[in-house]
Amino acid sequence: MNIGIDALGIATSCYALDLATLAEARGIDPLKYTQGLGQQQMSVAPPDEDIVTMAASAADAILSPEDKASIELVLFATESGIDQSKAAGIWVQHLIGLPKRCRIIELKQACYSATCALQMARYFVTAHPNKKALILASDIARYGLNTPGEPTQGCGAAAVLVSANPRLIALDPEYGLYADHVMDFWRPNYRDEALVDGHYSTRVYLSSLGHAWDHYVESSGRTFADHATFCYHLPFTRMAEKAHERLARHTKQQIPSEELLAQIEPSLSYARRIGNSYSASLYVGIASLLENGTIDLGGKRLGLFSYGSGCVAEFFSGVVQPTYQQALHSSRHNSMLNLRQKLNYHEYAELYQFQLPQDGSEAATPQHATSPFRLTGVKNHVRLYERLSESY
Ligand code: CAA
Repeated sequence: MNIGIDALGIATSCYALDLATLAEARGIDPLKYTQGLGQQQMSVAPPDEDIVTMAASAADAILSPEDKASIELVLFATESGIDQSKAAGIWVQHLIGLPKRCRIIELKQACYSATCALQMARYFVTAHPNKKALILASDIARYGLNTPGEPTQGCGAAAVLVSANPRLIALDPEYGLYADHVMDFWRPNYRDEALVDGHYSTRVYLSSLGHAWDHYVESSGRTFADHATFCYHLPFTRMAEKAHERLARHTKQQIPSEELLAQIEPSLSYARRIGNSYSASLYVGIASLLENGTIDLGGKRLGLFSYGSGCVAEFFSGVVQPTYQQALHSSRHNSMLNLRQKLNYHEYAELYQFQLPQDGSEAATPQHATSPFRLTGVKNHVRLYERLSESY
């Protein structure tokens, strides 16, 4: 029995900042951001959009009433949690009408947690093939104004429906793991912005890829050539290009650099415009590949690499299903990205400084969101949400 990804939706915020605009404000050559980091834009979340509104928007648009009725497991992956106790997935359950007979839990391990969720969902569906699991991965990447990490911010969510006989990708059971205690990126409870040792983090990402790949090869017996293409975690798109070149060197491929980069290009196009979406980013990359690729991927195997600082990494794979194109949401995703409003530098900096009250006092958020859901404010320490419209 095949088990894997039956539907995949993504969402992001209603605003975008061109990195050329940021470069000008910082007095930096824009080519550093657009070529050196491979980023064109980053999504910016206004006060009334957060991990819950983005996850609800991503999920609601891909789920039929029958899908919703058969979901018994909701796994919310994030490193931008909104509560130290309650799982963000319970707000989403309420907003989009998921069943009350349901396990709902939140998972954290930097950008890796959605991949752990995917494997847990695979085990759940193996045991209960007529049930479905929903993975919500949603994050807002914040490094601070005028820091080296600033051009690698962004925000976004992915909703991944896992079922038997999936329409998009049948997951292979083999995987490769690597975990180690490293302090490359972390966020103590008292901070809104991540702390990061940027160059070290890129080195750990690349070495973890080699270790996870070696374990994957031991368990699967596959080679580089057994994969039609690859998708990588996308903190910025140039990172994935470096990862792909590293994997090709590691496995002694004789493929010209231009050809290698062309192999992964379709997986980069959404992240180039959204920026880093942490736990969602690999799944944003998979959506981008399936929806923007020029070759038919039906029946072809994808190599997938997930990396979460700290660190845990996993290399895994799956086979794209023959009729996958009928289950995509390409035009909705592209129009969502195109309809984002562009910010100037001052609007971005002002939104960045906004904070909800930290003492529970009542506050209403100004209306910015154009997505189906918004955070309306806080009252008695409780976050309040509303549905603005039907799905995107
Ligand atoms: N024209 C073209 N390219 C230029 C340029 C110019 N004028 N100026 C610089 N560049 C190139 C540089 O040569 C460099 O390319 P290479 O790496 O290929 O040499 C690239 O632009 C970046 O330049 P710097 O290394 O000088 O940039 P920086 O020191 O300001 O910071 C960064 C880069 C470390 C990635 C920083 O943005 C950062 O800390 N980001 C956050 C951390 C991160 O994303 N880490 C990724 C791995 S960890 C992970 O994946 C988990 C996660 O999601 C966070």
